[in-house]
Order: sequence, then C-alpha cells, then structure tokens
Amino acid sequence: MALIDDLRATRAEGESAHTRRVFLQAVGAGALALANVGTAVTAVRYLWPEVLFEPETRFRIDRPDDIAVGTLTVLPQQKVYVMHAASGFIAMSAVCTHLGCLTQYERENNRILCPCHGSQFAPDGSARQGPAPRPLPRLALSVERGLLVVDTSKVVAPETVLKV
Ligand code: FES
Repeated sequence: MALIDDLRATRAEGESAHTRRVFLQAVGAGALALANVGTAVTAVRYLWPEVLFEPETRFRIDRPDDIAVGTLTVLPQQKVYVMHAASGFIAMSAVCTHLGCLTQYERENNRILCPCHGSQFAPDGSARQGPAPRPLPRLALSVERGLLVVDTSKVVAPETVLKV
C-alpha cells in the first residue's frame, strides 16, 4: 500500500508541476506579445510626423484712415490691442505681464485692467498699477497694401510707434 501511495503522490506532484509550467509559459508568452505590440505601435507612430498647427501670427486689421485718433481697437481672438495715439499706431499684446491673464479694456475708464490680480495699464500699454512688472509688450505693426498688419510673433521696443 505504501508503494501505491508513493505513486499517487508523485503523480500529483507531476500534474501540479505541469500545470504551473503551462501557466508560467502562458504568462511569459503574454508578456512577450504585449512588449511586441508596444514596440510595433511605437515604430508605426514614429513614421507619422508630429505636426502642431499654430494660429496665424500675422493678420490684417483695417485701413489706418478708418481708425480714429484716440481709439483703442480690441482684438480678443488674437489677444491684441491696437491704439491709434496722436503720435501714431501702437500694437500690443493683451496678455498681462504679471502671470499671463488676458486683460480687458474698460472703455468708460479708458484703462486696460487685468481681472486676475488687478494690474492696470494705460491705453498705450504702459503699466499704471502693479503687480504687473512691465508694460504690455508692443508688437510689430506695418502697413501692407493699405492695411495695418500686426505680427504677434515679433515683439518690438517699448517706444515703437508706427507713423502713417
Ligand atoms: S496676471 Fe495680471 S495682475 Fe496678475
């Protein structure tokens, strides 16, 4: 009887080892397949360019004669102000120089106000009240085919004015 019990115990151990081996093989094959899929996906994605479509940085506004002296034109989509001062045209960013909030022009008080922390700017972009440390950056402005053209990709010197 002891011999039969030994044989049964050996057979049970063999079945258990067989089951464990099959399980580990399946896990290994699954991990290998997952790694291969990851590699294939990465290789295929590498073939497609990562193109970033950015908004246009140059845009036309209006004819200079159509903008009255003392008028501030607000272009919220482009985040730009264009001021027609007595000395000429000024284009400036509407993004606050403190932490980058979008400023708003208050026509009734003739000031540019930042809603985030209360900075105030004059209509020519100069800083009136902090915490903004600098005036609004001036942007390149030109006249092309009779129209004012702002280029938001070019920041110009703070005193730049376009005389038309
Ligand atoms: S972001 Fe404009 S005052 Fe802070």
